[in-house]
Amino acid sequence: MSKITIAIDGYSSCGKSTLAKALAAKLGYAYVDSGAMYRCVTLYALRNGLIKDNSFIEDEIIKTLSEINLKFEFNPFTKSSDTFLNNENVEKDIRQMIVSENVSKVSAIKAVRTKMIMIQRELGKNGGIVMDGRDIGTNVFPNADLKLFMTADPDIRTQRRLDELTSKGQHPTFLEVKQNLLSRDHEDTHRKENPLTQAKDAIVLDNSDLTREQQLDFVLKLIHDLTLKVN
Ligand code: DC
Repeated sequence: MSKITIAIDGYSSCGKSTLAKALAAKLGYAYVDSGAMYRCVTLYALRNGLIKDNSFIEDEIIKTLSEINLKFEFNPFTKSSDTFLNNENVEKDIRQMIVSENVSKVSAIKAVRTKMIMIQRELGKNGGIVMDGRDIGTNVFPNADLKLFMTADPDIRTQRRLDELTSKGQHPTFLEVKQNLLSRDHEDTHRKENPLTQAKDAIVLDNSDLTREQQLDFVLKLIHDLTLKVN
């Protein structure tokens, strides 16, 4: 069976990475969390004092791009890939609320997107990849074999994100998490550069009432039908 390219886009915290990881594990494909890359640029800017009170000077962040090296490494314990920023495992740090609060603005900078998209295309050039994000099916891999557009009820998404943060020892309120999700959705769908939109040929997956297993089965069936057509 030839190795296909799977692009998963959608709103914040609707389970894109959960589905993408499960698919990659099942198919023996690479998984790339493109949001983690934008989070790394944001973390680097925060650590270097370039973001203060939720504002920053674009040019200062653009200058740091040449200092940033990103890579993903499979972690056999979590059975998923960890994100490395300049050889440091930052998987936990990039999920902090302070990063979430600033990442949409940083990811709207054109030069940041240009660099990240170049890396993403390089990672996916041989197929056999599942990549999730906001512009994967529309911009990074417009010819992806399978495009999914994920969505879910905002309250359900908030609760899932809150559970995830709590399990990592962070304790924001439901309202804080919900506001962050909604404001990121707004910024991601309204920015000038590659906003989040549904690709014309994407299949919509609303997982508000689906278990992880049901969602995975649904997509595996799509892939099965697709690869029958491709081969
Ligand atoms: O998937 P995530 O929530 O970790 O992504 C963090 C932010 O990065 C998100 O608010 C928007 C941005 N992003 C993007 O602009 N393009 C992508 N392909 C992936 C993420």
